[in-house]
Amino acid sequence: MRIIQSGFGAVGQSLAGLLESRDDIYTKYGIMTKFVAISDSGGTIHDESGLDPARMIQKKRQEGTISDSKKSISSIIQNMDADVLIEATPSNYIDGEPGMTNIITALKRGIHVISVNKGPLALALPSLVEMAVYNGVYLRFSGTVGGGTPILNYAKKSLRGERITSFRGILNGTTNYILTSMGGGMSFEEALGDARGRGYVEADESLDLDGWDVAAKLTILSNWVMNQKTTIHQVERDGIRDVTQQDIQRSTERGNAIKLVANCNDVISVGVEDVPFDDPLCIHGTLNAASFTSEHSGTQTIIGRGAGGIETASSVLRDLLDIRQVVTK
Ligand code: HSE
Repeated sequence: MRIIQSGFGAVGQSLAGLLESRDDIYTKYGIMTKFVAISDSGGTIHDESGLDPARMIQKKRQEGTISDSKKSISSIIQNMDADVLIEATPSNYIDGEPGMTNIITALKRGIHVISVNKGPLALALPSLVEMAVYNGVYLRFSGTVGGGTPILNYAKKSLRGERITSFRGILNGTTNYILTSMGGGMSFEEALGDARGRGYVEADESLDLDGWDVAAKLTILSNWVMNQKTTIHQVERDGIRDVTQQDIQRSTERGNAIKLVANCNDVISVGVEDVPFDDPLCIHGTLNAASFTSEHSGTQTIIGRGAGGIETASSVLRDLLDIRQVVTK
């Protein structure tokens, strides 16, 4: 599979390292991968005969960018021979760019797309899916919700045939880590500083703290799992900035923990709630969890690590395997 990858941050580099290090991807699954172009914020690099992933990672670390070409990523996607675009540029919830153009260009050219970028999906998932279907290609995005934990596939595949009537989730590791630390006695500012020090907080802190990241994941889930045609801007959204140590203590005295919860039922919303200690959603630290309630099988919860470069790269690998399976059937 000839891969164009837009974005070479933590996820992009982890994926390059993962594909490089796993011989069994070919022996077990019959997939031979080749990166023919990569972009980062500094520019692009491309080679029809394939780029060496280890050298790209080293170049990025040493020089800060892989760039050595004047071509833009959009013109590369428009003109280069490729099977899959892996879209891993940062999420933008205003116009989805540059990921939106990258994805649309690839789909229109008949190139499969795997996106870990939430922006375009949170703004236009139904039309992007329609565009993929129209052009006979696959659009996959397992890594956008839950990092390496297959939350989307759990709902879509493991629960297939069921009618999911509602779901709730803890979908942002950073805010859950901060709230957990506050439960241990820290103030909001101390807990935020600690989370920043560990590299958990997004460069644009508002994405985590004001619920944008959760709202994006909730939008993707509600579209994909519940067929709701929503965009991120229709989600009722609140964050954790106003949670005080007093709120945490009051909640603890009642046998609860304060959590930033994503809800999809009659309304689609993100906000702080008291979650009982014995609720499976009452997870700690950077974990994510999603509880799906369906018509016949009750409520089931999937829990796991919700972020991280290598975890999210493992989701991209699953998507690659899915695409390979369906295109070679
Ligand atoms: N900032 C996100 C989180 C990770 O803390 O969960 C990317 O989705």
